[in-house]
Amino acid sequence: MTDQALLETRELRKYFSQSSGLLDSFLGNEDHVQAVDDVSLTVDTNEVIGIIGESGCGKTTLLELLIGLHEPTGGEIRFQGDRLSTFDRKDWKRFRRNVQIIFQDPFNSLDPKMTVRESLREPLAVHGLDDKTARIRRALENAELDPDTYLDRLPRQLSGGEKQRVSIARALVTEPDMILADEPASMLDVSTQASVLNLLNDLSTELGVSIIYISHDLSTVGHVCDRINVMYLGRIVESAPTEQLLHEPKHPYTEALVNAIPIPDPHHNRPRTKVEGTPRDPINLGEGCRFRDRCPERMDICDRTPRTTESDADHQVACHLYYEHEEVGQ
Ligand SMILES: Nc1ncnc2c1ncn2[C@@H]1O[C@H](COP(=O)(O)OP(=O)(O)OP(=O)(O)O)[C@@H](O)[C@H]1O
Ligand SMILES: [Mg+2]
Repeated sequence: MTDQALLETRELRKYFSQSSGLLDSFLGNEDHVQAVDDVSLTVDTNEVIGIIGESGCGKTTLLELLIGLHEPTGGEIRFQGDRLSTFDRKDWKRFRRNVQIIFQDPFNSLDPKMTVRESLREPLAVHGLDDKTARIRRALENAELDPDTYLDRLPRQLSGGEKQRVSIARALVTEPDMILADEPASMLDVSTQASVLNLLNDLSTELGVSIIYISHDLSTVGHVCDRINVMYLGRIVESAPTEQLLHEPKHPYTEALVNAIPIPDPHHNRPRTKVEGTPRDPINLGEGCRFRDRCPERMDICDRTPRTTESDADHQVACHLYYEHEEVGQ
């Protein structure tokens, strides 16, 4: 692992046991959902990383692992070079100030009885930070809300987009190094979505905040991320700089996602393909490529788990099509 990365995971795993009964659990015959499996990610300072994938592929579980809400089943997470598994109370407090999360649902993420001022004051009090008024005003301005208009409002006096901006201001108020955003715009209408996403993008440039941005929608992620990781049933199947991933997707799943992006130019005649079928049962996935049932390129070797290979230094893909050929022929 490198020391410079802000956040790094190595072979990170989270399996949820689906115990069928006491005897099975005693005999070790439990079923497992492999929600996150062998995920290795690096986020550098000032970088915006996207994680995209269908519902149930493990995106939220991955974010929850990254902020310490779950104990990993295996692998490790480092923040500024330090392992989360070795953190004491003081380290966790520093980490919680430096890594903030924005949730999907702006309608439930604020306390209905707290004014905007009270909502933003709370994290400052928890972390014992001074200069509360100045910090609160600065965070609201960074979230593009006029403090004089919004400070004394309650959540019911805010639109959905304004609520999500208050959530962003709340995340910014402790001046974090990193924000984890779990589908922060998916419950908003299209124009509000665009303004919230642009705001997050500006924050990374202007404040130097790193962002991990989660979504099921490649077309929205493409506008804000430097790099995209495509997740399928717990695994990262492809990772590349955004432009490269959108223009030269390698994994058949990524290719199908890229092809499904609506095309603004009606004269453009790219075929619109959809990923057919549904993901396989996430319980006890076993050996093999997890996309193989839906893959138009399926080969016999796909019953074996593909290694992640580098097509160039910056572009990784886990697909047998990109293995050395002697292995494919076996
Ligand atoms: N606490 C839990 N116990 C058991 N299984 C869980 C638990 N949390 C999540 N899972 C399972 O792990 C898998 C990944 O769930 P997760 O919520 O991370 O998906 P997601 O990609 O965020 O989906 P969505 O886009 O719908 O939010 C799913 O199969 C889910 O049922
Ligand atoms: Mg989720």
